[in-house]
Amino acid sequence: MVQEPGAPWWRDAVVYQIYPRSFADGTGDGVGDLSGIRAHLDYLADLGVDAIWLSPIYPSPMADNGYDVSDYCDIDPVFGDLATFDALLAEAHARDIKVLLDWVPNHTSDQHPWFVASRSSRGNPKRDWYYWRDGRDADNPDTAPPNNWRAAFGGIAWTWDEPTQQWYLHNFLPQQPDLNWNHQEVVEAMHATLRFWLDRGVDGFRMDVIHMIGKDPELPDAPPAEANTNRVVFNDYPGTHALLRGIRKVLDSYPGDRTAVGEVNLRDTDRIVTYYGRDDELPLVFNFNSVRIGWDAAEWSALVDEVERYYVGDRWPVWVLSNHDIVRHRTRYGGSEARARAAAVLLLTLRGTPFLYAGEELGLCNAEVPPEQAHDPGGRDGCRAPIPWTADAAHGWTGATPWLPFPPDADRLNATTETGDDKSMLALYRALLRVRRASPALRRGELTRVDAPAGVLRYTRTHNDDSCTVIVNFNHFDVDVPLDNCTVVIDSNHTGNPVYDGRVGAETAVVVRPSVGP
Ligand code: GLC
Repeated sequence: MVQEPGAPWWRDAVVYQIYPRSFADGTGDGVGDLSGIRAHLDYLADLGVDAIWLSPIYPSPMADNGYDVSDYCDIDPVFGDLATFDALLAEAHARDIKVLLDWVPNHTSDQHPWFVASRSSRGNPKRDWYYWRDGRDADNPDTAPPNNWRAAFGGIAWTWDEPTQQWYLHNFLPQQPDLNWNHQEVVEAMHATLRFWLDRGVDGFRMDVIHMIGKDPELPDAPPAEANTNRVVFNDYPGTHALLRGIRKVLDSYPGDRTAVGEVNLRDTDRIVTYYGRDDELPLVFNFNSVRIGWDAAEWSALVDEVERYYVGDRWPVWVLSNHDIVRHRTRYGGSEARARAAAVLLLTLRGTPFLYAGEELGLCNAEVPPEQAHDPGGRDGCRAPIPWTADAAHGWTGATPWLPFPPDADRLNATTETGDDKSMLALYRALLRVRRASPALRRGELTRVDAPAGVLRYTRTHNDDSCTVIVNFNHFDVDVPLDNCTVVIDSNHTGNPVYDGRVGAETAVVVRPSVGP
């Protein structure tokens, strides 16, 4: 990786999210695994990503596909074992690819030994590691839960435990009880889980719903208008920030700029940026407003302006279009290949660290998952379909039938076919990553938005004497955006014209820079 002196590696990085169940199957059981990832590290190196983030690979009953962890310090047998993980880490590092794990601190599995102990009796020493409360009605304690919070996948956020006659809190599934971060032993035990992986050499973590770990110990009712979303009382509770500073100290006690990217699922950018702290909380924080807006120049311009306004000093933006929780962006943008190509240019040229979601470089849409094949309680299977590696019917998944159906058009949209086609989506992503790697302006430069015709987003990126202009035409017709004497670096529509002629095609993005020489 080309790195500015003194800059942490993650500022210059492009991170690639792997959903391990769906990436590649090394054992032939129809579920992706660590040996499958090992077998495709050269693909990732050729693509040009700097780091991979693995969604959870820990032992888990899989009620939420691994986001219900029953042991933070091991590997689920479906994915492999610690020796396979160590080999993967070493092989990734040998290719200059960093590895981030997904850390799930807000809740454990109900099968985690901590919760099993906590649930066993009111007097158990781990009872207070979770939130246990009496019902509201002392005479009928099992009828009314302790407060009005709703769980993320529906229903109330509490489950009654008959043997110990109390309710426990779970903001997600009943199989995902919330850990009590107000208890110092929980803080220490969770720090130890970070150290376990940092000692093994991982480069950092994606931190699951990290904005939720701090909670008002009174667990007050949410205001009625917010009872369905539980905002404020457990999202964005001020006490979370002290916990984040403690977590950051653990990361900073290791050499090599170990990093963390926080999943902070808040709406307001001015609130999201508070999770950077004064450079003493999270190094990186997702801002999901980019996945909430559509294919719309005005909305993107407003978001870019907002990010430029709030991400000052050490607050470094993070950009994302797709992940394992949301409909793939190509599908959101109406299935259009042109839009997905232009969006790739946008994602990889904005100021900040881009996160790619495995398969977007192939132009994948969401899969259609019939109800009898559905797995996810949150209805998110469509974006978790297996990655097609080859054009034949098995698509590189040569053993048992994969756990979910493939995305549409996998005979065309697969890694092998696209590797052989210099106009494919994969070729575009590779070219973009190459250009970005070679350009200090695209990696580190300031961003200035420039006025443009209706339906067009235009900005420049500048760093010392390196400068690029990006023009994204959201319209379904060509537009004129005249610029003197410029060379085309990237054209999402691969017209192949090296000299910029002032015209940008429909739903096309171009990157241009001043021509050198006479
Ligand atoms: C995060 C994860 C999601 C999971 C939830 C509960 O939002 O991205 O997949 O279901 O947290 O852990």
